[in-house]
Amino acid sequence: MPIPESIAANLSLPLIAAPMFLVSGPELVIACCRSGVVGSFPALNQRSSEGYEQWLQEINSALGEGDAPYAVNLIVHKTNPRLAADIALTVKYKVPIVITSLGAASEVVEAVHSYGGLVYHDVINTRFAKKALDAGVDGLIAVCAGAGGHAGTYNPFAFISELRELTDKTIIASGCISNGESVLAAQACGADFAYAGTRFIAAEESLANPGYKAMLVEKDAADIVYTPKISGVNANFLGSSIKAAGLDLAKMSTPEMDAEEELSGESKAWKDIWSAGQGVGAIKAVQPTAEIIGQFKQEYDGALDKLIAQRGQWRR
Ligand SMILES: Cc1cc2nc3c(=O)[nH]c(=O)nc-3n(C[C@H](O)[C@H](O)[C@H](O)COP(=O)(O)O)c2cc1C
Repeated sequence: MPIPESIAANLSLPLIAAPMFLVSGPELVIACCRSGVVGSFPALNQRSSEGYEQWLQEINSALGEGDAPYAVNLIVHKTNPRLAADIALTVKYKVPIVITSLGAASEVVEAVHSYGGLVYHDVINTRFAKKALDAGVDGLIAVCAGAGGHAGTYNPFAFISELRELTDKTIIASGCISNGESVLAAQACGADFAYAGTRFIAAEESLANPGYKAMLVEKDAADIVYTPKISGVNANFLGSSIKAAGLDLAKMSTPEMDAEEELSGESKAWKDIWSAGQGVGAIKAVQPTAEIIGQFKQEYDGALDKLIAQRGQWRR
């Protein structure tokens, strides 16, 4: 299904800057939306629901008619004690898009639909996708192999095709989309939207610390380690940050996932051990968000022109 007109109208590319724990805040969201890309943040990046409300007020008052809509990520899980309060605020401030993780609940979908918002749910396999569709979500985020954060293991060609067989709702491709060519590739393989996280960590407006940004500029896919040993769930991390923290994965066992500790921001995972996806090699500098998005647009247009020019080359 094409992106709904209410969302597409103010987009300059079919791109969502993905929500990232301890990385995305209002400055990044506002900069993305002003450049025609959906900006997003996890509600839990603020320590309290009051803080979440402040960010919603800040974003709502900064964005105007011509800007792209924004999204908020909610962790739908029993270990998230703020869920009910955060949903009430999401409804009060009419957040245009809600990205749900872990659980897809029909009550959340109903609450968001009550004011005309959309719910996209992230999935790593078709079992979770079917559950989310049963809960009535408006779209699925296909979190594929190589993605930053809790990545899946499927190749996008396979996974997006399987999701497309399940639904004609919006499909969003996630994992290693770090340039404009990859946004076009995501559309070509059946997705409606592309979802990019890693590339935006090194944006000037992100909350990531300067050492993290510098490491992203320096490293490429060879440094990315997929392991459950940091947080208890498989995720991609910069190997150099694991080493810098003095950890040796070979000597570590997999911890129980302690979602409460992780969500509280107290855990070493995410704060000192830095996550990134295999698309990290595209990051050549710390740049303003508008410049990153400008580059995406140029690459997208260039790739599209190249494909159209090549079209006549193939025997019919
Ligand atoms: C540092 C970091 C933190 C993340 N935190 C979250 C999060 O809190 N919630 C969420 O739904 N996804 C989170 N993700 C996953 C992203 O939303 C997205 O799926 C992923 O970054 C896309 O892959 P890419 O990094 O290769 O572009 C995180 C990713 C990174 C790199």
